[in-house]
Amino acid sequence: MKAEVDANLCQGHARCWDICPEVFELDEEGHGFVSVPEVPAQFEAKTREAADNCPERAIQIF
Ligand code: F3S
Repeated sequence: MKAEVDANLCQGHARCWDICPEVFELDEEGHGFVSVPEVPAQFEAKTREAADNCPERAIQIF
């Protein structure tokens, strides 16, 4: 599974990082980005939860 943050949609709510810091990080402006090329299996559920909790719906999973 892969995840991606759409930089055009992200408004820096940081819930992704709060929920799953193993997969999401914040850049110096507070915008989320995905720090791993593939989501490790043990973090897939938390990554989905992060996507569901992003108020901007900026996180895509594929
Ligand atoms: Fe951005 Fe959504 Fe995370 S707005 S910082 S991708 S919770």
